[in-house]
Parts: sequence; C-alpha cells; structure tokens
Amino acid sequence: MFRDKDCGEIRETDIGSVITVSGWVFRRRDHGGLIFIDLRDRSGLCQVVFSPDLAAGEHEKAHDLRSEYVISVRGEIRKRPEGTENPGLPTGSVEMYVRQLVVLNEAAPLPYSMEEAADAGESLRLKHRYLDLRRPEMRDNLIMRHRVSKLMRDYLDEKGFLEIETPMLTKSTPEGARDYLVPSRLNPGFFYALPQSPQLFKQILMVAGLEKYFQVVKCFRDEDLRADRQPEFTQVDLEMSFVDRDDIIGLMEGMMQKVFKTVLGTDVTLPFERLSYQESMERFGNDKPDMRFGLELKDMADLAGQGTFKVFLDALAAGGMIKAICGKGMAGISRKEIDTLTSEAQSFGAKGLAWIKLKNGFESPIAKFFPEEVLRAMAGRLQAEEGDMMLFVADRPKVVYDVLSRMRLELGKKLDLIKPGYKFVWITDFPLLEWDDDEGRFQAMHHPFTSPLDDDITVMLTGDITDNTLLASFKAKAYDIVLNGFEVGGGSIRIHNQKLQRRMFEVLGIAEDDARTKFGFLLDALQYGAPPHGGIALGLDRLLMLMTGASSIRDVIAFPKTQKAFCLMSGAPSAVGTKQLRELHIKTDVVAEEKPAGPVCDGL
Ligand code: AMO
Ligand code: AMP
Repeated sequence: MFRDKDCGEIRETDIGSVITVSGWVFRRRDHGGLIFIDLRDRSGLCQVVFSPDLAAGEHEKAHDLRSEYVISVRGEIRKRPEGTENPGLPTGSVEMYVRQLVVLNEAAPLPYSMEEAADAGESLRLKHRYLDLRRPEMRDNLIMRHRVSKLMRDYLDEKGFLEIETPMLTKSTPEGARDYLVPSRLNPGFFYALPQSPQLFKQILMVAGLEKYFQVVKCFRDEDLRADRQPEFTQVDLEMSFVDRDDIIGLMEGMMQKVFKTVLGTDVTLPFERLSYQESMERFGNDKPDMRFGLELKDMADLAGQGTFKVFLDALAAGGMIKAICGKGMAGISRKEIDTLTSEAQSFGAKGLAWIKLKNGFESPIAKFFPEEVLRAMAGRLQAEEGDMMLFVADRPKVVYDVLSRMRLELGKKLDLIKPGYKFVWITDFPLLEWDDDEGRFQAMHHPFTSPLDDDITVMLTGDITDNTLLASFKAKAYDIVLNGFEVGGGSIRIHNQKLQRRMFEVLGIAEDDARTKFGFLLDALQYGAPPHGGIALGLDRLLMLMTGASSIRDVIAFPKTQKAFCLMSGAPSAVGTKQLRELHIKTDVVAEEKPAGPVCDGL
C-alpha cells in the first residue's frame, strides 16, 4: 500500500499513529545523525525524519536519497520538538519518524534546482514542463483552472445547457485569423481547418432546436502570439435560442459572480458597468479599458485650435485629433525622463509627445503658443493641478487612441494608480463593420453572422449600401466582456434571417458563390426555421491568468507553446518523413532544419 494519507494532510490529531505516505524528495538535510526530508505530493509537504536507531539498512538508504526521488515511507507521527515547528506549513507542528523506507524510483540530476525553479529561465521550464508543474504555484494554477471550469459547467448545467462536442476536423470558420490546416489523405489536395471557434456549429445546433448549448473547447488560430494569445486556447463557448443581449449579459454576470465568489472569495458587484464602444474609445483610447483607475483621455481639439502651435494646427487641418492625459505629480520629472516618455510614445506610433508642466505657472516649450486662459482651460479639462503634467498627442484618431491608451496604462503602472481587485466592464454597440485598408473594403468587426442593431436592420435592407458613411454608421448587437484591461470574452446576437444574412454578405462584398463555398451549410440551415439566437465565448486561459495573477496565459496552460508556436517539451512542430508526406500528396520545397526555439517571453 502506498499511502494512508496525503503528505499535506497530516495534523496533530495523527500524533501517535503509524501511517504510510508517498511522494517526492523535495528538500533533504543530512545532519549525519538525523536525516530530514521534506516529502512532497500534490497536497503539500511534510517532514520525515530518519534516525540512526532505525532498523538496520533504512538509515543507510536514506543517505542515498536525492532530489526528486520517489519514495514511500511508513512511520510514527510525532509532535515536533519545541522550537522546531514550522508555522508556515499546515503540517509544521508534526513530523514522521520513519520505520520503513521504500525507494519507488530514482531521479536523474535535475536541470535546475527545484528550490530555485521559479527563477529558472522560461525556456528551461517549458522544456521540462513535468518538473515545472511540480511547483506549488503551477499546481495551484491548474487546480484553480479545474475548479473554474467545473463551476462553469455546473452553472450552465443548472441553467439547462447541454455540453455538445463539435468537430475538430472542419472547415474554415469566420473569426478571421489564419487557419491551421490538416491535409486529407483520403481526399488528395483537400484540407480540413482546425476550428478557430465552434461558431457555425453552435448556430446550427440552435437551428436544430437544442436551444442551450455550451462547450469547453479548444480553438486554433494561427496568429501573432503575445502573453495573452496562444495558437491553441480554450473557450467556454455557449449559444442560446430566443434571447436578446441582456439575457446573455445577465447569464454571464451570474456566472462570473459565482466563480469569483467560490474560487477567490471575491464579491463582484452586479450589474457590471456597460460602455458603448464609442465611449470606451473616447475615454480610454481602446475597447478593453482597465477600469481600475482613471487617467482618462480628454479631447483638446477646440482648445488646441485656439493656439499657434503648428504641430497641432497641422493635425487638425488634416482631419486628425488632439487628445491629452494628465500625469499626476509628474511636473518634477527631468528632461531625460521626458525624452524617454517621448521615445516610448514614438515606439507606439506617435510622431512626438507634447507636454506642459504645471510648475509655478505653465512650463513647456509649447506654452508660448497659447494664451494663458487657453492653458488654464486645458488644465481645467484635465483636472490638472500644480505639480502635474499634461501630455498631448496629435495625429490620426487611430494613432492618438493607440498611443494614449498605451501611455495611460504605462503611467497607471508607473504612478501606481491601478488598484488591486477585479473590475469587469461590458463594451457594447460595436460598429458592425470595420474598414480594411489592405483589402479596400469593409470587414465584419465581430463576424459576418452578427446582427445589426434593430434600428439599423431596416436601413441596411433598404438603404444605399455603396454609401461608406452609412455603412460605417451601422452598429452591431455585439458585446465584449473586459476584465482589468483584457478582453476575456466576446459574443453577439446573430442574424437568423436568411434575407438579412444575404444582404450582409453583399455589404461585405462576399460573392454569393463565395459565401456558399465558405458557409453554405449554415446558409442552408438558416432556411429551415432558424430561431432568434445569440451567444458568447469566454477565453478561459485569459480569465485564469487574471484570477491567478499570472503574467502570461502560458502559466495557466499545462502544455503551452512559445511565441513561435513551438512546444519545447514535445518538439512540435517537427519535420515528417517523405513517406508520410507522399501519402498526403504533399510536396514541400523547404528542407526542415533543427528548429531553433526562438524567444519565449514577450515582456508584457
Ligand atoms: P472571439 O474571437 O472574440 O469570439 O473569441 C472569444 C474569446 O476567446 C479569447 N481568445 C483567445 N485567448 C487566447 N489566445 C487566443 N489566440 C485567443 N483568441 C481569442 C478571448 C476572446 O474574447 N465565436 C466567437 C464567439 C461568439 O460570437 O459567440 C469568438 O470566437 O478572450
Ligand atoms: P517639434 O516642433 O517637432 O520640435 O516638436 C515640439 C514638441 O511637440 C516636441 O515635444 C514633440 O515631441 C511634440 N510633438 C511633435 N509631433 C507631435 C504630435 N503629433 N503630437 C504631439 N506632440 C508632438
């Protein structure tokens, strides 16, 4: 028998009993006489003691134990001698006096010491993921992940949802990233796509009358990777029939409340704040605002226009915008620090960063271009006071928003403004369409099956769809759920009417036969009595990253990939033999070499 109890479960109530525990040798202190081992299993650590008066041989064997050997020990639980307790451990007031030791397995010398494992380079940790996952932090992340997905499953089950699996070998889906393709041996020249999401299938399940579907599901997207993006990631995906936006929003709020309360003991207040896309952009410069702090963007165009600063006037003349944020208490920073901020702004895409300090009046190379009352009005709008610094960016809206939203985050961190805790916000009323400069046409901002707002539906069906201004004005019944500055989920109410769906493709410039080739099966299904429906997908990895406080989703995924989509442990992707390629009718002109791992971290 391997164990009567788990290592981390031994308590003072066990004193006097003789039990067996099994686990890994974590720490070992050999005092010649007494040998102490911290024995670790998934539940935690306990101290086991080998005394020289052990049965012959057992003490000798204990001398040979090394880090991460797997052992089973049987012995008596005793109270630790006064002064040797470890209050930091739940098992810290007791220890086992070993009577019998069985070495179940040895371990080769480790690539890094387990005690300093958290500081080992991430590449090394990913290569030896089985060692990395032995760390309590990583174990706890996986335990929390299990608990969260179980709670979500239970919650949805209680609400009448059915978990239904959808295919992994499928057709390209409409999320708009690049697909991972899988060649079909039986159909030479044909490829499956791994799903970017189960979007089309879940809609078809609604047409099929299943009414409430969910799935904890792997999705695959071949896109540029970041700390919050993996090539394969997990969605808690759901779809419902006979609902509108508020039903989905209410359902998700209840789910988040339950998960955060049960897992973290945190009360999140309902309902979550809601911001329209437009308001979010204007106030925060992006559609995933971190609501834990202010530092909001203010529009300065009218005031900037009253001065003679050429950079500002040129930007306005070119149809651009001027926005500013207020750096609290930053008036004391040096010229060098300003230069650093400026290069930061430039690295985010700005041409420059204009600044005005409130320091015995207005101190700035550009103050001379503005009448005193305009400077005062600027300060008033930003609620800037003596000791603060105003920072301005003038450019095209996209650049201004992009730069200032990033500066806002940087300064929020630098000035220590971000309060700990969790702030959810819904972003709603997204534009239905988004202009694609490369393609020279509109694209669906969410995906082509997203319904316009009711008011826009009639206009879309009857209006002039060659009018770009009209198209740009359409809003979607789409919503994103944002937590602490991360998009943790997104969804929409779908188009369930075939005529509207056709019109949407027309607007997107997708030819009828093209739409048929890509999404024909959904279009077919929509003809046969599709109910009104909508849904959402949560990014489970991102949510867990925020709940655990990890800095990357890699830390909440058992076997993640590097930024180059490489699995350092298994060595995937790898070259395959010519026979395999021949069977798949694939010829490649690239000779695969030993693959360099590439950088892992991206300095989020
Ligand atoms: P969307 O594309 O917004 O919606 O994806 C939903 C959520 O999935 C997470 N996510 C990712 N997480 C990690 N790595 C990635 N590469 C990655 N890509 C997305 C995000 C995101 O909010 N079918 C629609 C949902 C719907 O309309 O119901 C969809 O997939 O947290
Ligand atoms: P210049 O006239 O180029 O010397 O710039 C004067 C100040 O304006 C410098 O602090 C620049 O960083 C800043 N600046 C230049 N371009 C912009 C811009 N597009 N938006 C905001 N500030 C700018």
